[in-house]
Amino acid sequence: MKLLAGNSNPPLAKAIADYLESPLIKASVKRFADEEIFVEVHENVRGQDMFVIQSTSYPANDNMMELLIMIDTLRRASAKRITAVLPYFGYARQDRKPGPRTPISAKLVANLITEAGADRVLTMDLHAGQIQGFFDIPTDNLWAAPVMAADIQARYGSKDLTIVSPDVGGVVRARSLAKRLDNAPLAIVDKRRERAGESEVMNIIGDVEGQVCILVDDIVDSGGTLCNAAAAMKEQGAKEVLAYCSHGVLSGAAEARVSKSELTELVVTDSIHHEGMIDSDKIRKLTIAPLFGEAISRIADESSVSSLFD
Ligand code: R5P
Repeated sequence: MKLLAGNSNPPLAKAIADYLESPLIKASVKRFADEEIFVEVHENVRGQDMFVIQSTSYPANDNMMELLIMIDTLRRASAKRITAVLPYFGYARQDRKPGPRTPISAKLVANLITEAGADRVLTMDLHAGQIQGFFDIPTDNLWAAPVMAADIQARYGSKDLTIVSPDVGGVVRARSLAKRLDNAPLAIVDKRRERAGESEVMNIIGDVEGQVCILVDDIVDSGGTLCNAAAAMKEQGAKEVLAYCSHGVLSGAAEARVSKSELTELVVTDSIHHEGMIDSDKIRKLTIAPLFGEAISRIADESSVSSLFD
């Protein structure tokens, strides 16, 4: 088994390599003057079980292209099996046609990864579980829930906790986290625009009064969803509101918005690397390196990955 990393998330790739006690293989991923990507692997990979670690986060298209070219390089160097390891699978939100004459880019990206030569995919908290079906190769979709649950238990115990889904679509994810926290009660934020041109009304289904509320979501991008939900919960009497998200996209003014919000803290995993960007006291990162390291080790040994979540 050998590991190759692109440029999207060097700290996570190094931490996974440390967990596995298997250093990243020597390779260079360079740019030509016109920004074309060139990959060169400096050691023999013939017959090897290769794991290519790359999140397709910002800059999404560059990181995606790097991943495809790394896979192509390994295939042409006669690797035995190639697993594309995407701690964050970008383009996942484009998983259906929102209107006529629009693409399903998540499917296109799945096709590109497969066509480049990946034999399997390892990722985490896909925006929608059924995106696994966009790949015609085995795809393992890990959950950050056990990592989050352990952190929540250690910091807050499970007394007066309510787990909150910020939208109706996230209920399954919230319920799975609640189960790991002694079946904590659930609440759901139902966003509605009652009339065109009027601002959104946040209806909260469930009781949040006096509770420590934990919002759970797959992605925090602009931060709007979480910050608005936190304000609505505070209005309904929540004692404290925190948020746990698998993927901290945190684009634009997200960091500033979170800092000014009613959220006590936003916890994200390190599936996405932010080069010197995050310095808000309110944003904390949890590492998923052991989770990915263990899953890679099990795939290499042909043993069960799902039992990681029992
Ligand atoms: C949407 O379905 C996702 O699960 C997230 O809620 C969304 O991507 C968050 O975006 P933002 O932080 O921009 O509100």
